Amino acid sequence: MPTTFIINGRTETVDLPPDMPLLWALRDGLNLTGTKFGCGVAACGACTVHVNGQAVRSCQTALGDVAGATVTTIEGLGNPAALHAVQAAWLAAQVAQCGYCQSGQIMQAAALLAETPNPTDAQIDEAMSGNLCRCGTYPRIRAAVQDAANRLKEA
Ligand code: FES
Ligand code: FES
Repeated sequence: MPTTFIINGRTETVDLPPDMPLLWALRDGLNLTGTKFGCGVAACGACTVHVNGQAVRSCQTALGDVAGATVTTIEGLGNPAALHAVQAAWLAAQVAQCGYCQSGQIMQAAALLAETPNPTDAQIDEAMSGNLCRCGTYPRIRAAVQDAANRLKEA
């Protein structure tokens, strides 16, 4: 049965099995490959997207469960002409190393700041604790989240 949802601001209907992980529907069905596969068991955060504004692991979210929902991926968070504050802060801090985990990190951080505009370092560490980075970029991630919070306040 096809599933219709809003993805990055446009309505899409995908004719894929409703029990397929959202991650595969995004990557293989909609060619949105910015969202990454890491572990497949909700243990790394590489596949993080927003569903109705909440950060979720798309590897463990069924396509059918987002019917009628609003989904945002890294491709829809901002664009080169109008970066999201988190993306701008990430660039300024040169957070990424290999980059593989980074779209998930950015989506998690954006969801944190939408709910908690002035996070403490402890709140950042807690919110980001499920997003693993094999390159160990954690200190720059924390600094960039604080920078993004300041950018959002000034916006
Ligand atoms: S691929 Fe989804 S949490 Fe690791
Ligand atoms: S930047 Fe390489 S895994 Fe995070």
